[in-house]
Amino acid sequence: MTDKTEQDRVLIFDTTLRDGEQSPGATMTHDEKLEIAAMLDEMGVDIIEAGFPIASEGDFEAVRAIARQARTAVICGLARANFADIDRAWEAVQHARRPRIHTFIGTSPLHRDITKLTQDEMVEKIQATVTHARNLCDNVQWSPMDATRTEHDYLCRVVETAIRCGATTINIPDTVGYTAPRESADLIRMLLERVPGADEVIFATHCHNDLGMATANALAAVEAGARQIECTINGLGERAGNTALEEVVMALKVRNDIMPFRTGIDTTRIMAISRKVSTVSGFPVQYNKAIVGKNAFAHESGIHQDGVLKNAETFEIMRPADIGLNATNLVMGKHSGRAALRAKLKELGYDLGDNQLNDVFVRFKALADRKKEVYDDDLIALMRDSDLDA
Ligand code: KIV
Ligand code: ZN
Repeated sequence: MTDKTEQDRVLIFDTTLRDGEQSPGATMTHDEKLEIAAMLDEMGVDIIEAGFPIASEGDFEAVRAIARQARTAVICGLARANFADIDRAWEAVQHARRPRIHTFIGTSPLHRDITKLTQDEMVEKIQATVTHARNLCDNVQWSPMDATRTEHDYLCRVVETAIRCGATTINIPDTVGYTAPRESADLIRMLLERVPGADEVIFATHCHNDLGMATANALAAVEAGARQIECTINGLGERAGNTALEEVVMALKVRNDIMPFRTGIDTTRIMAISRKVSTVSGFPVQYNKAIVGKNAFAHESGIHQDGVLKNAETFEIMRPADIGLNATNLVMGKHSGRAALRAKLKELGYDLGDNQLNDVFVRFKALADRKKEVYDDDLIALMRDSDLDA
């Protein structure tokens, strides 16, 4: 049975290697997947969804290898609601120290139409498949896909069925990124209140970012009682992506005063894994992406640069070191002021008096007007031209 004693602990379930890899064009090689899984394990991710074993031979092999190498994380394989998928997922994860089978079915009217199952027929399918998975593995996660567009009464019924058949984690996916924070919280609260046995399992939140609300929706679900967040590095995932791991983890760390929950993540490893996932998936991280974007700790305007030089907290709500970055980045451009130029030149080995600085500042501004960003090499060239030695 899942340990529910630590009420403030939120489990981090990373699905970069499954939902993340489903981003068109984000395919990763076997070795790259193993490397990312090792990094996820080391940084303290609780559950790694390593792939969808029935999808291809390659996926199966990768999940099996990740299961064998994992040290502490639970290794999870995805399966649709049929015995062949579930058996294949079990075959792939069974050698993990801590294996999990994750099985799902689309429960909303739209999905019931596609599978041509009546409500009763779907309940029977859930009974059979969750029971089958539970006979193989004592750690079973079940998901009603498109939960946020499923009728509440029916959602309660299918969730109750899955719990009765032995599911230990119930994941509530917002498959198409349709919900909003208040609704996300209300849905979890409603399930916890209405479904018999709900307090015996962990509820998870799995949000997509189609309306840009995946992080807010996941955090709202946690405040309402969910204790597992499903997410990916850099928010990689189908369409607009999934909840970004780095965002929820840092939000819970930085705003622990109003969201008193903790994760087991070593946040100083965030930057390294973000870069790794970006490189192997071929998906660049947008410059202004929260937490891991190139500009997330960069300051160009004079007021901001002056502020962070005096006290970083004026314009930074977390320390770069918290995510494994060396230092705040002062970007030199036309909005930069004297204080930043002095600090930057000092970093480059030039310690200037006030008059020298004034002189260089005039020429720096002229250069900055011509160039979008003034790099360290530009400043060194400027100093050489100024006959000012370090
Ligand atoms: O978004 C979704 O519904 C999923 C399920 C497979 C859990 O990824
Ligand atoms: Zn998903």
